[in-house]
Amino acid sequence: MKKNCLLLIPVVLAAAALTLSALGSGMSSAQAQGGYKQDKPYTRENPGPWAAAKDKHVPEITYEKMGMGLKVTVKVDNHPMDPQKPHYIMWIRLEDGRGKVFGKKDFVATDPAPIATFELKSVPAHLQAFERCNIHGIWMNEAKVELK
Ligand SMILES: [Fe+2]
Repeated sequence: MKKNCLLLIPVVLAAAALTLSALGSGMSSAQAQGGYKQDKPYTRENPGPWAAAKDKHVPEITYEKMGMGLKVTVKVDNHPMDPQKPHYIMWIRLEDGRGKVFGKKDFVATDPAPIATFELKSVPAHLQAFERCNIHGIWMNEAKVELK
């Protein structure tokens, strides 16, 4: 009995490492270990099996100067929010491309078009937006911040 417990420890540690690795790549542990498996977020250039659906999933990033900071809007508004299927955007998250998370907005299927606004206190050089569709997985888009 005690041997079995000792054998489980490396398995548990490996699972924890996989979870942390997945979180670092913009994926939640649910996607990494649950029914949906995806190695890295889909992009316009690499849409995985969903090439025909990429225009509905790649998050659109816009930004404008706001005081000393930046107001960033992330939209996935071509995507359906259908509670019957269900097929909807579960969340939108904004990062700086180096692991810093600026914020995350969760949605439910009955919400209107998924749009998230983030008010940043400073101006980062880079923006990275992620969204999670309950059917088509995690998608990512990036933008270099250039203010006029
Ligand atoms: Fe979708």
